[in-house]
This record gives sequence, structure tokens and C-alpha cells, in this order.
Amino acid sequence: MKDHIDYTPFIGTDVGIAAKLLIRGEAVAIPTETVYGLAANALDVKAVTKIFTIKQRPTFDPLIIHFSDLSRADDYVLEVPKIFKKLAEKFTPGPLTFLLRKKQNIPDLVTSGSPFVAVRIPSHPVTRHLLNLIDFPLAAPSANPFGYISPTTAQHVADQLGDKIYYILDGGASEVGVESTIVGLNAEGQVEVLRKGGLSVERIEEEIGPVIVKETSTSNPTAPGMLSSHYAPRVPMILGDIDALSATGDPARTGIISFNRFLPNIPTKHQIVLSGTSSFGEAAFNLFAGMRYLDNCDIDVIYAELIPERDLGIAINDRLRRAAFKDEI
Ligand code: TXA
Ligand code: MG
Repeated sequence: MKDHIDYTPFIGTDVGIAAKLLIRGEAVAIPTETVYGLAANALDVKAVTKIFTIKQRPTFDPLIIHFSDLSRADDYVLEVPKIFKKLAEKFTPGPLTFLLRKKQNIPDLVTSGSPFVAVRIPSHPVTRHLLNLIDFPLAAPSANPFGYISPTTAQHVADQLGDKIYYILDGGASEVGVESTIVGLNAEGQVEVLRKGGLSVERIEEEIGPVIVKETSTSNPTAPGMLSSHYAPRVPMILGDIDALSATGDPARTGIISFNRFLPNIPTKHQIVLSGTSSFGEAAFNLFAGMRYLDNCDIDVIYAELIPERDLGIAINDRLRRAAFKDEI
């Protein structure tokens, strides 16, 4: 029913069109500072179902809901713990997501039956504008087919989901480049980082002291965002010493992801240097686009190196490890 709405061009910057489609119960791709999301009315089960169908995402993988302000979540969550309020004050809008006890008005489909809902306050101005035009929260996972690399531009979304959605709201390249950091409280009331993301653990700890950082898991089906295999290119990716690895095989059919330097023996067009100046922020910004680029090159293998395990390097290495993981899904 695409012809019912004047939505040309398909990728566009019209927040009003995006709002209209969302109100009508459609799924729309939206820009955020972390990655692009595939959004729908979180209160409308039919609309949320479209997200799962379009992404081919299993319904046991819960969705994050987005608000323009944490206080707007009050109607949908039982309470916001004090310590989260403190974090929210400091770091939101921004790449941080809170697991909070949900009220009944959040459909079980959104949370995969969990009594907790993930709440995020994005900072991207276009999506903040959009959120202010509607009176419901937006459920939005990353706008990629399940298991593939998350999109950081409107074009990435179009390349993979373009024939399945009505509109991609273009807000430029996502500034942060990796998904939000997810925090929850454990049974003892301690803050746990459940997904390493665009807000570093160090910055969280500066604010509230030591937190528990959960490792990825293949055994907990209720938190598949933590599955080991995720964010994966189709070209096999191997982690290790890129100098040694690149000395084996056919250099013309080899791709490289390095932190800060080109290798002399591999064609430059098959190399992604995450940050020539060793900036973690720049490396995060370039990571997913670089993986996608290499995945579309005519090569047989991608060799990648881990970067220093601190700051955003923790989230980057987490994504690299999962992209390289091939044995389990
Ligand atoms: O940066 C982001 O967070 C992006 C943008 C679009 O906001 N969204 C995103 O969503 O990364 P998604 O669906 O790709 O990842 C959400 C992950 C889930 O896979 C799950 O691990 C966790 O968040 N999650 C969501 N709701 C949860 C819940 N109720 N309980 C436990 N984990 C939850
Ligand atoms: Mg995702």
C-alpha cells in the first residue's frame, strides 16, 4: 500500500512523514546517535510484530523503547531507581539504556515476556524531534536483519531492508557507531552492565563507583543481545595478529581491520583503519561501516585485530569478537 502516502523520496529527512507512518502503525527506520533503529509504536502489538517480521528477529529477543525524556517513561515503568536517575541526569540523552520494571501497558511482546523493559533516551536531534510529535514510545531494535552488522547510515538500512519498509528517516551517519550500553540492577541492587556499548564502563564508574560487567553468553535465551554470534559479516572474520595472519593466503583476496595502520602487503582498498590517530571514538564510528564495506568486497577472509581493552575499546572488541564467532548462534 505504498501508494497511499506521498513519501518520495524513500530515504528522506521529513520527520512529519515518519510521524504519520508511525501513528498509522507502520515501522519506520530512524537515526540515533548509536545506530539506526527500526521503530514502531511500542504500545501497538501489530506494529511491533512488523519489526520482528521485517528483521526476521525471534520474538524471544526483547526490544528497547525510546522516549525523549526519562520522566516520560513514568507512565510505563513502576519506578526508576535512584542510582539510575543519577546516571540519567549525567548521561542522557545519550547511549545508555536502563532495564526497568514495566507496567502492564507495555505489551509482553516488547519485553519477550520479561517483567523488565529496556528504556533509552536517544540524543539524536532528528529522532528527538520525532518523539515529540507522537504520544507513544517507540520500540526500536537496530535496523538490520537479525544477526547482521548494525546500520550506521540511512543507506545501510536501505541496502538491506529497503524493500520492506515505507520510509527511512535520514539523520546522517550515527555519531557513536556502536549500540547503547545497557544497565540493570541485580538482586542485590548492584548496577550491572548487560551490554557493553557507546557509554564506557569507566565513565559510568566515575559517576557511581564500581559496577558489575556481564560477559556475553550463549546460555541465556532471554538476553539474546548477549549471544556470542552477532553483528556478523558474511565473509568469515578471524581475530588475531594481523601481521602474521596476512602473511598467509592470497593477499588480493584478504581484508584487514586494523586499529591504526595500513599493512604493506595487502591492497589498501581491502583495509579498514579504524582510527589513524588511535582515537577510540573514531574507531567506534568507523567499525560497522568498515565491516560492511569489507563484506561487500570480493575477498575470502577478513583478518581483524583487537584494540586496547579500555574506554570504547571494550565495546569495539566485544563487537569484533562476536562478529568473528562462528561456531554457535
Ligand atoms: O543503541 C541502541 O540501543 C539501539 C538504538 C536503535 O537505540 N538499539 C538496539 O536494539 O541496539 P537491539 O534490539 O538491537 O538490542 C537490544 C538488546 C536485546 O537484544 C537485549 O539484549 C536487550 O537489548 N534487551 C532489550 N530489552 C530487554 C529486556 N527487557 N531484558 C533484557 N534485555 C533486554
Ligand atoms: Mg541489534
